[in-house]
Amino acid sequence: MTRFIYLLILILFIQSFESWAAPKYKVGFSQCTTNDLWRQTQMRLMEIELSFYPDLELIIKDARDDSNTQIQQIEELLAQQIDLLIISPNESEPIAPIVEQVYNSGIPVIVIDRKVKTDKYSAFIGGDNNIIGVEAGNHAVKLLKNGGKILEIRGLQGSSPSQERHNGFVSVIDKYPEIEIVRSVSGDWKTKSANEIINEALAEELEFDLVFAHNDAMAREVRRVTQQYRKTRDIFILGVDGLPGTEGGIQMVIDNVLDATFMYQTGGGLAIQIANDILNNRKVSKQNIIPTLTIDKNNAPMLKAQTDQIELLHNKIERQKLLLTIESSRNKTKNIILFFLIAVLTLTTALIFMIYLNLNDKKKVNKILIDKNEEIEKQNLLLKEQHEQLKKIDKELEEATQAKLTFFTNISHEFKTPLTLIKGPLESLMEDSMPQADRKKTYEIMYRNTHRLLQMINQLLDFRMIENKKMRIRANENNLDDFLNEICDSFKPLAEKKNIKLIFQSHVKDPRVWFDYEKIEKVMFNLLSNAFKFTPQNGTISIILRKQKVNNPGLFAEEVCIEVSDSGVGIPKEVLPKIFDRYYQKGESRIVKGTGIGLNFSRELVELHRGRIKVESSEGEGTSVFVCLPVGNLHLVEDEMTRESNRRNSNNPELPFIQENKIPETENYPKNLEDDAPSILVVEDMPDVLEYLQMILSDKFKIFTATNGSEGINQVLEEEPDLIISDVMMPKMDGFEMTRRLKSDTKTSHIPIILLTAKTAIQNKIEGMEGGADYFIEKPFSKTLLLSTINNLLLSRKKLREHYRETLDFKDTGTDINKLDQQFLKKLRNIILENIGHEDLNVDDLASKLGISRVHLYRKVKKITDMSVSEFVISIKLKKSLEYLRHSGKTITEVAYESGFSSQSYYTRCFKEQFKVSPSKYMKQFRSN
Ligand code: FRU
Repeated sequence: MTRFIYLLILILFIQSFESWAAPKYKVGFSQCTTNDLWRQTQMRLMEIELSFYPDLELIIKDARDDSNTQIQQIEELLAQQIDLLIISPNESEPIAPIVEQVYNSGIPVIVIDRKVKTDKYSAFIGGDNNIIGVEAGNHAVKLLKNGGKILEIRGLQGSSPSQERHNGFVSVIDKYPEIEIVRSVSGDWKTKSANEIINEALAEELEFDLVFAHNDAMAREVRRVTQQYRKTRDIFILGVDGLPGTEGGIQMVIDNVLDATFMYQTGGGLAIQIANDILNNRKVSKQNIIPTLTIDKNNAPMLKAQTDQIELLHNKIERQKLLLTIESSRNKTKNIILFFLIAVLTLTTALIFMIYLNLNDKKKVNKILIDKNEEIEKQNLLLKEQHEQLKKIDKELEEATQAKLTFFTNISHEFKTPLTLIKGPLESLMEDSMPQADRKKTYEIMYRNTHRLLQMINQLLDFRMIENKKMRIRANENNLDDFLNEICDSFKPLAEKKNIKLIFQSHVKDPRVWFDYEKIEKVMFNLLSNAFKFTPQNGTISIILRKQKVNNPGLFAEEVCIEVSDSGVGIPKEVLPKIFDRYYQKGESRIVKGTGIGLNFSRELVELHRGRIKVESSEGEGTSVFVCLPVGNLHLVEDEMTRESNRRNSNNPELPFIQENKIPETENYPKNLEDDAPSILVVEDMPDVLEYLQMILSDKFKIFTATNGSEGINQVLEEEPDLIISDVMMPKMDGFEMTRRLKSDTKTSHIPIILLTAKTAIQNKIEGMEGGADYFIEKPFSKTLLLSTINNLLLSRKKLREHYRETLDFKDTGTDINKLDQQFLKKLRNIILENIGHEDLNVDDLASKLGISRVHLYRKVKKITDMSVSEFVISIKLKKSLEYLRHSGKTITEVAYESGFSSQSYYTRCFKEQFKVSPSKYMKQFRSN
């Protein structure tokens, strides 16, 4: 675009400059020669005339009296694209074809002076040479009245004036017999030729009285030569042309050089006029004959005066023209400067404008770019935000899915416990060796757990209904006081059993509330079950009923709130916001346990009543759950109300489970056991599982029980069992935590632990193993598998003890022995070896060096190695003495003392007991090898 503007300005600039500087038409002038006065006069007149026609430009070519040159030059003029050709032909015939060609090509042709042998031209300008010849003949006759001889010097042979002048002259002379043309030769219009001709004639002594030369120039040469030759003026000389000026024919007549001349006007001015007319499409006459005039002594002075006048005028014109030219050239310069200034200004302006446009464009482009960038930036931000949002949604979805999966996995696992308690007892019953008393218990366990399974399935179905929003309430007006009293009654036995104070207080005068009995009953059972689950013995659970106004009254202005408070463990702050989440489960608070799917289910049920549920809790102090139900029934739609009582006739199916889900008494299993029967601690919070385990283990093992991890630890310290079987998910402290603690305490680290769990996830196994558990058994477990695992573990412990006892090698033996135990033994051994020379190293010294009690040391060494501490010390000393016997070269007495024995005999006795060989025999055997 910018380039195009530049080009346009340049073209306009050149064009305007050219049109202002150059004429409109090119006129080519092919001159046969410029080498004589006549032609110079002709061209001068043309120039003068041209000054009146600024549209015309005259290009002159000089053929120098040569026809070929003239043809060539015309071609050159054509190449210069002339608009019109003026030609003064050298010769008639040779020039005719090129004139025709020019004319035929559409370029106007003006023939001047001499003729061409064709009529293909636009106009002819010239004198009538025949008449000139005639006039000259007449004048000769006049001068030669007595007769005489004539010498004729003609023009160029092939040129028309020469022929016509001759013809006219002869035509007159021929009429006078006394006058004779003695010689007629061509002088080619040139002085030089005339000189030769006259000299020749004089030399020949040719007689002649009159010379007729076809132009004044040749005539003057004749006069000059003859006068020089004869010294007298004895001949008449006639010329042609009669030009003005000091060198012209008129002056020659006045000066007696010529007797007469015949005016032959050049037609220069006329030629320009006609050319201008033709170029401006004006009609012109084809033949423009200029008259002639005889100039002799009579009229020459007058003509001179006239022509001088004309000459003066011409000079003035030329001066004027010169002045004009100077002025115009000044103006031209000025104009050029002005033009260039304007041009520069215009260009600069254009340039500035373009730069401005450009800058503007750039600005615009920049602005567009900036806007675009901003837009892109905005879009990027938006995309980023969307991306973040999507990521968040994705994460939430993933979390929700994960929670859902975990939830259902956990539920599936929960099914395993009752299934274990159906399958296991069934297995025992099938053995047929069960005593009658145990059978009844077994059936009861199976019945309870079948019931429990059913209950869980019902809860799951309820849960599905909630999830699919298909759960509907059927409310009727109930007395909330009565309702809560009944619920309390249901829980009283449990409260008594657990030694928990259950209080119900009502602060409501009119306790009538619209609700679905069955559903709110489920809510209350859920809340109370949780309360009982987390409230320790001697705690308090209270139910308080209050009525209150609502903040934003709509379809109801009042609500009745049931507060269920416990003095339990409380809920950690970070867990509190999540407890109503559908799939939220916190390790120990198994939601599907006892009373239902949990708080989420309760909330859904309450919200179906347009009620609300909230929880307040502080860790260690207790938890309060508030269930608030609207007063009245305006908030319920027709479908949600019923006149029929929806109160169940039978007892709450969950109640027997809760009631009978009691912790079995260990004393119920006084089996006839041997004194050294191994003892097992069973840690399980589910009474049925606990009871079942007791049932299947108590005939072979001493059984101790605990219902959670921390109870378990206390029991371990108290009873020092040989093995522990523990559930994983338990309140207060789970199985993993308990395992970790027991295995990281040297007092208890040697006790093998079997974890019973419904959770099969690898992660859980790793957790358990890392904590030091020795074995995992999955629920539902087989009684046989459990028994064989117990036996294997106890056996491997026994073997290990024997191994230690025999080898005193405490290298890592795999998973059978806890690393802590190995470290303990190594430490103990090192202490003994460091003090090997001290024969009085006793248990107290060792215990204090190890930083444990004497009893603990004793028990620990016994459990791992089945040796007493002193036995262990002697074993280490004996083992060390072997080295001395082998390598030291010392005597047995010396070895005995160095190994920390008080006498050689005591050493020998101990040695024999341990290695079944005497030290002396051992030494001999070894040293002889
Ligand atoms: C000039 C001239 C004139 C003469 C004319 C004829 O060149 O010789 O003197 O009149 O040509 O064409």
